[in-house]
Amino acid sequence: MTQMIAPQFDLERIRADFPILHQQVHGHPLAYLDSTASSQKPALVIDAMNDFYRRTNANVHRGVYQLSEQATEAMEQARAKIARFIGARSVREIIFTRNTTESINLVAHAWGRANLRPGDRILLTEMEHHSNLVPWQIVAQATGAELLFIPVDGTGRLALDGLDRLLTERTKLVALTHMSNVLGTINPVKVIAAAAKQVGALVLVDGAQSVPHFPVDVGELGIDFLAFSGHKMCGPTGVGVLWGRKPLLQAMPPFLGGGSMIRSVGLRSSSWNDLPHKFEAGTPAIAEAIGLGYAVDYLASVGMDAIHQAEQQLTQYAVERLQGIDGLTLYGPAVAERGGVLSFNLAGVHAHDVAAVLDQQGVAVRAGHHCCQPLMELLDAPATARASFYLYTTPAEIDQLVRGLEKCKAIFG
Ligand SMILES: Cc1ncc(COP(=O)(O)O)c(C=O)c1O
Repeated sequence: MTQMIAPQFDLERIRADFPILHQQVHGHPLAYLDSTASSQKPALVIDAMNDFYRRTNANVHRGVYQLSEQATEAMEQARAKIARFIGARSVREIIFTRNTTESINLVAHAWGRANLRPGDRILLTEMEHHSNLVPWQIVAQATGAELLFIPVDGTGRLALDGLDRLLTERTKLVALTHMSNVLGTINPVKVIAAAAKQVGALVLVDGAQSVPHFPVDVGELGIDFLAFSGHKMCGPTGVGVLWGRKPLLQAMPPFLGGGSMIRSVGLRSSSWNDLPHKFEAGTPAIAEAIGLGYAVDYLASVGMDAIHQAEQQLTQYAVERLQGIDGLTLYGPAVAERGGVLSFNLAGVHAHDVAAVLDQQGVAVRAGHHCCQPLMELLDAPATARASFYLYTTPAEIDQLVRGLEKCKAIFG
């Protein structure tokens, strides 16, 4: 069995930062193994939002009075922290949205409808979350563009040998996930982006599972758009981010119309505000954006490299323990090419039953199609159970998962 190398941070101190983790579920200590769906929040983030509502709450970018100015300042500070966190060149490139889904829809509708013509191609992969598939289906239907897909091979990695044939001068956009939320596969985004650039295609990366878990630098990756969600990276629900290269965002028409996104409004036409406001119609999720800024501070203080290294260690340990269970099928590639997401099935037991039995043992895992129905078809599995890890996950929780699975086998024979 793997000799666990201690993480570069004090795991007990990290856990002490997350109030929710210290509770019993059905008489067992909670083992929260569903951070891929949504992460838990450190007290720092909860307190920052609480503090905002107690002391600073007002609408932003509108008032000339002190509270409004302070609220605006706090939200803009959060934008600046996020820009630094992903290596954006300008704070104007950070658009606050509700989540990854809305960020991708923004590009699909604002950029896609204005730029795609019949016969143009959008290249996706077979492992996309519905969030990075359905918006493109809608836009393809509206514009006459075609969807093509990079296949997933039998090991759960993208089959890149045919990439040259898939990428042609008709390809206008490549949109792919950085890390699969089912297989854990970390895709070679930099290589794919470089190939896309050869044919002049733009590259959108779904960073819902990468930005929370390892260092992501948009300049280094050579991409054009990055979408991610606050709630998966120790921040609150209700806030997400779209990063885009400034010239592209400037050239794009607005996505949603309303307050804040305009420069001037007449009865029949209007003109648009500067970035980022052009894409932030209406009152934003102010406390949430501020909370996300604190989440970014928290992750940066622990260190994204350290978080990634700790998760890889845990994943190695979990893979070895799960592979020791008779009748368990584990999906996805080798640990070196994946993050801390493990999808599996137990022979003869439905994934929902596995999750229900695990819940009785205090272990929270997700079961279902994980919003990836085409990939599940490819895996020939209507559903899987999925355990996923984050910086607060312990080897003891993985042991608890394994005991729960043994119990499941005993119950279902
Ligand atoms: C890879 C991936 N993309 C997109 C999403 C959608 O995220 P959200 O529901 O926060 O918009 C998820 C959520 O699980 C995801 O894992």
